[in-house]
Amino acid sequence: LRAKYIDLIANAADEAALEEVRVGALGKKGEVSLKMRELGKMTPEERKTAGPALNALKDEINAALSARKAALADAALDERLKGEWLDVTLPARNRRLGTIHPISQVMDELTAIFADMGFAVAEGPQIDSDWYNFDALNIPGHHPARAEMDTFYMNRAEGDDRPPHVLRTHTSPVQIRSMEAQGAPIRVIAPGRVYRADYDQTHTPMFHQVEGLAIDRDISMANLKWVLEEFVKAYFEVDDVKLRFRASHFPFTEPSAEVDIQCSWEGGVLKVGEGDDWLEILGSGMVHPHVLRSAGVDPDEWQGFAFGMGIDRIAMLKYGIPDLRAFFDSDLRWLRHYGFSA
Ligand code: PHE
Repeated sequence: LRAKYIDLIANAADEAALEEVRVGALGKKGEVSLKMRELGKMTPEERKTAGPALNALKDEINAALSARKAALADAALDERLKGEWLDVTLPARNRRLGTIHPISQVMDELTAIFADMGFAVAEGPQIDSDWYNFDALNIPGHHPARAEMDTFYMNRAEGDDRPPHVLRTHTSPVQIRSMEAQGAPIRVIAPGRVYRADYDQTHTPMFHQVEGLAIDRDISMANLKWVLEEFVKAYFEVDDVKLRFRASHFPFTEPSAEVDIQCSWEGGVLKVGEGDDWLEILGSGMVHPHVLRSAGVDPDEWQGFAFGMGIDRIAMLKYGIPDLRAFFDSDLRWLRHYGFSA
């Protein structure tokens, strides 16, 4: 019996086979277990020799089982290590670097261009009170501009007596916040996210604007025109470009103008600064006295201009991106195609 089991254990090929051997010998109905049960029927004389012999056999089988089990585990590990060995001298595999999103790229370009003209960067919250988003900008409660803007309003819990808040519909509330914080004179741009409930090929519920604000003692529309010309030339990388100021209306500027840039569309390709087409790129005007007053700036002493421009739109124009919605799809192929390397 001993020779049989020592042999079986030595030849067990894996843990499952080994377990089978164990059950065959030491399991409830195992050969050794049955023999041990027979001890009861033996005479005391017989039992004296058979008992210790069987116990010794049982111990020996158990020891052989554990030794074989350890040997099998070692062999399995060796096998795995052979398969998974690592050549640390191999050159590293290339990892794909991410790219700069076109919106971030354009924001960086804008910031650099306006920094050269003395504009600092200002920021405001994306969730703002309707006072900053509307009232302070001379848009009172009944004003149609509120309805036109497809505003997202924040829910208020019962008993919450904070003023109503909105997702800002434009970057213009940053005009108020930066004048409150800094007073006049001031020269800032404020790039950032804005929100309107609108969705089609040219509208997404979240998009980006950059606000511009320059307030001093004698700033005029002429300064606005120069700053915008310099901006358009630098941004579109052209030596010369005509700008067209079209009379318009915004509650927070007076007078107001929408600004078009000269361009051509040869074969569907936009060229800025040549041809005789016009492309609207921004709204602007002289900051309304009410707006200055809301922000604690005295309109008898200070005046200046403001403008607001869609960043997504000028990014599409410069980099030939056809569909606005693709900006926000997070499609890696699109991002690799239109993204900028760091
Ligand atoms: N806030 C305006 C808009 O969102 C743009 C604008 C900004 C116009 C500043 C005039 C002055 O359309």
